[in-house]
Amino acid sequence: MDKLVIEGGKPLSGTIRIHGAKNAALPIMAAAILADGIVQLDNVPKLLDIEVMLNILRRLGCRASHDGHTVTIDNTSVHSSHVPEDLMRQMRSSIFLMGPLLARYKEVHIYQPGGCAIGERKIDLHLRGLQALGAALVHEGNRITCKAEQLIGTEVHLDFPSVGATENIMMAAVLAEGTTVLTNAAREPEIVDLQRFLNAMGANIIGAGTDTITIEGVRELKGCRYEIIPDRIVAGTLMIAAAATRGAVTLTNAHAGHLTALIHILRRAGVQIATSDGIINVTCFGRPKAVERIVTSPYPAFPTDLQSQLMVLLSLADGVSVMKETIFEGRFKHVDELGRMGADIRVDLSSAFVRGVPRMYGTTVEATDLRAGAALVIAGLASQGHTIIEQVHHIDRGYDHIENMFRKLGAKIERYTPVPKLDFANG
Ligand code: UD1
Repeated sequence: MDKLVIEGGKPLSGTIRIHGAKNAALPIMAAAILADGIVQLDNVPKLLDIEVMLNILRRLGCRASHDGHTVTIDNTSVHSSHVPEDLMRQMRSSIFLMGPLLARYKEVHIYQPGGCAIGERKIDLHLRGLQALGAALVHEGNRITCKAEQLIGTEVHLDFPSVGATENIMMAAVLAEGTTVLTNAAREPEIVDLQRFLNAMGANIIGAGTDTITIEGVRELKGCRYEIIPDRIVAGTLMIAAAATRGAVTLTNAHAGHLTALIHILRRAGVQIATSDGIINVTCFGRPKAVERIVTSPYPAFPTDLQSQLMVLLSLADGVSVMKETIFEGRFKHVDELGRMGADIRVDLSSAFVRGVPRMYGTTVEATDLRAGAALVIAGLASQGHTIIEQVHHIDRGYDHIENMFRKLGAKIERYTPVPKLDFANG
C-alpha cells in the first residue's frame, strides 16, 4: 500500500490547471453505451475510478482506451448487459450502467452495491424511476434484473434530489417512447454536463441545472466527441489547501460559478478570492476566522464532498465553527485522525463543533475514504513536522497524482510505494 509523506508548514504558491471532473466523466462514460457509433471524451482524468469504469465497459464487450486525457469507447461489440458483481463492488458508480443498458438492450443485471465508508447509499430512487418508465424488476438475493421491451416516457418525482438517480433516469428516458418529466431533480453541474453530452449525441433534453428536466425520447443516438467539465471538488480542495497553508495560488481551467457556496464561506473566513474567466486566485496571509454555521446540502448549497477538507481550515481558524452534514451519515471519519494531529473537534450526531487551534502537528494517519484522505493531505501541508498518510488508494480514486499537484505548488510531499518482497526460498 502506498504512503504519502508530507513535510508541512510551507505556504502553497503558484499556478495549477484543474483536471476533468470524475463525477461528470463516470456517468458520461456509461452513457456512451447508448451511442450508435464511437464516443470520444476529452479532459478525462487518470484516476482509479475511471480505470474501473473502463474495465467494466470492456467486460461488457466495448473497445475502450484512455490515451493521454482522451477516452475512446466503441460499443459495437457489446455482448452482455450483466454488470459483474466483483466490479460492482469495487465501484458504486457502476450503477450508472443500469439506465443505459436497459434503454439500449432491454435488460440489465446488476448487484445491490451495498453501503460504503461514508454511509448507506441506497438505490431505491434509481429503481423506482426505472419502474415508473415501465421496467419490471426482479430481486434474487443481491442480484437485480431489470427488463423492459420499450420504456415509456412519464412523470417521475424524486423524493430527494439524488445526483445518481437523476442521471440514471435521464439515461434511461432518452430512448423511451414519448416525454419524461423529472421533478425535484438534482441540479449539480455534472447533470448539466450529462445533458450536454446526451444532446451532442442527438438527444432532446432541457432543464438540467433546474429542478425539472424534460426528456423527449428519440429513436437512436449517434457517436460524438465531447469535453468533460473541470472538477469542482478538486478545485475546491486546492482552494482550501491554499488558504490553510496561508499561501497564494492561481487555478486555471476552473469554473468559479460551480463553487459559489465555497467561495462565499472562504470569504467569510477572511480568505481573499478573485475570479475571472476560467481563473480563480486564492490568497490567505493571516489566520482565517471561524465560520459560525455550515450545512452540507444538494447543489447549489455547500457540497458534502468538500466538508472534510473545509474542516481542516476551520480547525486552524480563530474561533468556533459548526458544520452539519445532511447528505451522508458516515462522513466524519476524518475527525479522529485530525484530532490526532491536534485539532479540537467534537461530534454530536450529524454536527461537528470545531474549536480552532493555533497549530496542528504531523503524525501517522489513515485515509478512510476519498475526501477524508484529501482532508488529511491538507492537514499535513498545514501542520508542523512530518505527516505520513496511509491507505492512499482511496485518494487515488478522485485526484490525479495528488502529490504532483501539490509539488507544483511548492509542497514537500512524496509517495512511497513498497517494494514487494521476493521469497527465493519458496520459489
Ligand atoms: C454523488 C457524487 C458524490 C456526492 C453525492 C452528493 C458521483 C459519482 N458521486 O453521489 O461524490 O457526494 O452525489 O452530492 O457523482 N439516496 C437514497 N436513495 C437513492 C439514492 C440516494 O436514499 O436511490 C440518498 C443517499 O443515501 C444519500 C443522498 O441520497 O443520503 C445523496 O445521494 P446521491 O445524491 O444519490 O449521491 P450519489 O449520486 O451516490
